[in-house]
Amino acid sequence: MIHTRICDLLGIAHPIVLGGMGGATSAPLVAAVSNCGALGTLGTSGIDAAQIKSEADAIRKATAKPFGINHLLFEIDEERYSATLTARPAVASFAWARTDQDLRSYFQRAHDAGCKVMHMAGEVSEARRAADAGADVIVAQGTEAGGHVGWMASMPLVPMVVKAVAPLPVLAAGGIADGRGFAAALALGADGVLIGTRMMATDESPIHPNFKQAILLSDGHDTVLTEIPDIASGRVWPGAMSRALRNRFIERWAGREWALRRDYREAWKAVLEARRGGDADNAPLLIGQDAGLIDSIKPAAEIVETMVAEAEKIIKERLSKLLGR
Ligand SMILES: Cc1cc2nc3c(=O)[nH]c(=O)nc-3n(C[C@H](O)[C@H](O)[C@H](O)COP(=O)(O)O)c2cc1C
Repeated sequence: MIHTRICDLLGIAHPIVLGGMGGATSAPLVAAVSNCGALGTLGTSGIDAAQIKSEADAIRKATAKPFGINHLLFEIDEERYSATLTARPAVASFAWARTDQDLRSYFQRAHDAGCKVMHMAGEVSEARRAADAGADVIVAQGTEAGGHVGWMASMPLVPMVVKAVAPLPVLAAGGIADGRGFAAALALGADGVLIGTRMMATDESPIHPNFKQAILLSDGHDTVLTEIPDIASGRVWPGAMSRALRNRFIERWAGREWALRRDYREAWKAVLEARRGGDADNAPLLIGQDAGLIDSIKPAAEIVETMVAEAEKIIKERLSKLLGR
């Protein structure tokens, strides 16, 4: 068993957290992750207050274990945030605040509702800002990650954040898909990991089967940092690019972002249609470089159990033997 401070703080058996991914998490995935002793988290980007309530109810029906609910701070609104606080998840997790937002008030309300507060940062200054505002756990997310990311890679970022926010516990995120990444994150000083892309290729993941297949086909070298998905959806994301598969959709607009800015409404309509139809070439597919490590679709619990077993074996056998006599 790998046991860290995060297990005690969040009431979980394994220090592994499912990232709250808008559009790529749903009650069955969250519950499956929580049921096996890790922490499932529901992403709320793109769902309204009523859906937050119904998803939280469905999670509670499927598990008695702790789970989290995630909000993107730059697009948070009172109705949706109230729905989360009313649901009283064990963890309220946040990411991507605008610089003019007061984190302290959001975190205080979560604490008042009995939640632990987790905040994701891609830079040391953002990690410090969240720590100063009262966060309980900081997620250090490297640029290898799927979804919206900063510029710093996990290898330098994680230990920098660990040092900057000590003694707060830190989860490493970005590029972690198996026990090797998990063990490496612990070696960097993290108290656990937060994973996204690996959980998209699971039986319980709500994404279209064709998108899961596209993850298996990706070698990780074919992802790109781009603003194209955000321009197409008409969103201004504070301080981030997205890491996406370099598919036909991205190639169509690369270098022609000016035209996409003009035509984004029609482009977005086509994206929604492609998504519905499982056309993984003509819709953005946000995935991390760790897609290159993923070659099978499995139950979420098996991913967690294998990660734990692999990391234990690496620490016990490979790493301890390196010490020699
Ligand atoms: C499709 C997708 C959507 C995401 N949406 C969110 C989100 O809404 N909120 C958030 O905090 N993180 C979001 N993330 C980031 C994840 O929480 C996590 O940090 C990331 O996936 C970790 O890197 P990995 O994909 O290499 O495991 C998203 C990631 C992906 C791949």
